[in-house]
Amino acid sequence: MSCEEDKFFMRLISDKETEDVFYSLINKEHWNQSLSRIKAIHEVFPSNIFVMIKRETEEVIAVVIAIPTHPGQFIVGDLVVREDHRKQGLGARMMQMVVEKHSHFTLTLISMHGTESFYRKLGLQEVGPTHCGYYLEVDREMVKQICSDNPLDNDISINLYTNGVFPALNKYDTNARGYDCGKYLSVMTKTSSHFLVASSRTLEKMIGYASCIETANILRFDGMYADSDTVALHIFREMIEAFPHIKEIRVQTIKPREFLIQFGNLLPKTQTFTRMATGPVPDVCLSKLYAVNDCGYTE
Ligand SMILES: CC(C)(COP(=O)(O)OP(=O)(O)OC[C@H]1O[C@@H](n2cnc3c(N)ncnc32)[C@H](O)[C@@H]1OP(=O)(O)O)[C@@H](O)C(=O)NCCC(=O)NCCS
Repeated sequence: MSCEEDKFFMRLISDKETEDVFYSLINKEHWNQSLSRIKAIHEVFPSNIFVMIKRETEEVIAVVIAIPTHPGQFIVGDLVVREDHRKQGLGARMMQMVVEKHSHFTLTLISMHGTESFYRKLGLQEVGPTHCGYYLEVDREMVKQICSDNPLDNDISINLYTNGVFPALNKYDTNARGYDCGKYLSVMTKTSSHFLVASSRTLEKMIGYASCIETANILRFDGMYADSDTVALHIFREMIEAFPHIKEIRVQTIKPREFLIQFGNLLPKTQTFTRMATGPVPDVCLSKLYAVNDCGYTE
């Protein structure tokens, strides 16, 4: 270890650091993230949030989260180096340590625009699918029109999530994703601003769900799965109607789901995000996927 490297070290975040790390690092990036979410992640995954400490002052100067997802895979997110410590090799060092620590696993992440070369230098490669980050200025007149053109199918009931439906939700989510993501799902249910569950009255089973986080008057979709485009559209519009004061919506999805974005005007910020990984990844199960959450690490 060189003298320079010895000035910083990485360790797990402590309980009392979560708030400071959120406000001094993560929140400054304006991502789809909230303090309650970070706290819940820390509670449910106590060994998965890492910080880099400046030895001399004991200040936290960087953070990164690595959470297990698909068997054999971890998703990495919230990598932030404090602004005044960037471009000194610390981000690369932090990421390198995470890669080494999880050398028996494949790490995936969604890269922010422009950071692809940073990750490529660390040995990650682009994998599909590309995510489209849609930024939408809601047009309430259009919402009204779409609602009257597409009255809610009598068979579909859309309700607010309650704790009692967690087993059914987890079952639905596991089937939709192709793997059990129950721990992260519990974080989502506890920390969403609004969590809607759609069920079929005749089939008496769940047919979709969506989670949203509201921050700074922006509604960010944070995971949505549905059995069909119709169900997805109904959940999407129900969510928008639940937030009459919201002017902007962000939804990260994949290309064929573009039809969801018919409730307003796309803003120029709309962009794509690249999924990157340290190794081969299983195909993402897309058939029921309408909004990506992937731990919500992109804008
Ligand atoms: C991205 C980030 C973590 C990089 O951390 P850092 O400590 O500044 O990066 P490093 O000094 O370790 O840089 C390592 C290499 O990547 C390059 N690099 C760093 N940031 C980059 C960026 N945003 N885009 C492209 N290349 C970048 C550096 O030039 C350096 O290349 P070199 O080794 O050829 O000189 C940091 O800029 C940051 O916190 N950004 C804001 C949050 C963010 O975007 N996080 C990534 C989310 S996907």
